[in-house]
Amino acid sequence: MKYLVTGAAGFIGSAVVERLCALGHRVVGIDNLNDYYPVSLKHDRLVRVAHDSFTFIEMDLADREGIAKLFAEQQFERVIHLAAQAGVRYSIDNPMAYADSNLVGHLTILEGCRHHNIEHLVYASSSSVYGLNQKMPFATQDSVDHPISLYAATKKSNELMAHTYSHLYGVPTTGLRFFTVYGPWGRPDMALFKFTNAIMKGETIDVYNHGDMRRDFTYIDDIVEGILRIQDIIPQKNTDWTVEQGSPASSSAPYKVYNIGHGSPVKLMDFIESLENSLGVKAKKNLMPMQPGDVYATYADTEDLFNVIGYQPQVKVPQGVQAFVDWYRAYYKN
Ligand SMILES: NC(=O)c1ccc[n+]([C@@H]2O[C@H](COP(=O)([O-])OP(=O)(O)OC[C@H]3O[C@@H](n4cnc5c(N)ncnc54)[C@H](O)[C@@H]3O)[C@@H](O)[C@H]2O)c1
Repeated sequence: MKYLVTGAAGFIGSAVVERLCALGHRVVGIDNLNDYYPVSLKHDRLVRVAHDSFTFIEMDLADREGIAKLFAEQQFERVIHLAAQAGVRYSIDNPMAYADSNLVGHLTILEGCRHHNIEHLVYASSSSVYGLNQKMPFATQDSVDHPISLYAATKKSNELMAHTYSHLYGVPTTGLRFFTVYGPWGRPDMALFKFTNAIMKGETIDVYNHGDMRRDFTYIDDIVEGILRIQDIIPQKNTDWTVEQGSPASSSAPYKVYNIGHGSPVKLMDFIESLENSLGVKAKKNLMPMQPGDVYATYADTEDLFNVIGYQPQVKVPQGVQAFVDWYRAYYKN
């Protein structure tokens, strides 16, 4: 099978490339290698996943002609679209980056899929679409019309845009709402990375909402397993579906949306304790108020995904954090 993976130098993208190549597929990966966080980490991920059946092309999603030409030349069968401007807090000061990468960029990929008969487009959405929702766990049957960051609004828009292409042009699309992904080769802008870095330097860590937060932390290998399994399950048209009686995560068009998370929220303070245990150091904590755009808790209802792929995330926080710390120490020679 020939795949396009976008965001191939990213945390999740590079892990997906690695698995696809190991399974014997041909993979073309694109990424614009932007400097939202250190580009050296992106380069190192690419070095790590180098493989005879992997071709990397540096390209921006918003390059309409470039993306159109790529699809025409490469004749992909499936697309796993993970490139995006990520991060809730960054979207407060840098809104336009989200318009370019997440809106225009998503559209160029949808156009490529439309014109080149792509068998299945799997793309990254986010738990942040649940915004002001308070009912736990978050379920894909719930309304998600109240995002509280521009990042979340672009991810919800991605689902709407995908639905349009599934309906109008029959492009089979599956959106995955990821819940706080962590693990080796992770993102330096995320809490685990920032905490580890600060604790190892003896610096104080900023703990938002005075530590009263919960996150459904999901280990990278579990995310990759979920992506790999779901991309084999191609959504079909369902003429029995109606808006009134069907789930919003489904459609008469070949369109699906799933949560992909561990399914068990962990208190932020327990997460920090796992990190302290792995590092063998107590953290100095600076208790801070809630940040604009942040949500208090995330908790994934993963029943729908489990029913379809028969897989439940396996890795618990202490084990996953230990794997991250082992990688961090080896990578930064600490
Ligand atoms: N990691 C998480 O916890 C999490 C949670 C929810 C959703 N997501 C989503 O999952 C996807 C992957 O996230 P990640 O954690 O691997 O992030 P990441 O930032 O490590 O990877 C994204 C990659 O996309 C690339 N990229 C960004 N804009 C681009 C553009 N315009 N053109 C080409 N490449 C571009 C970046 O250079 C980066 O390498 C993203 O869509 C993100 O929004 C991640």
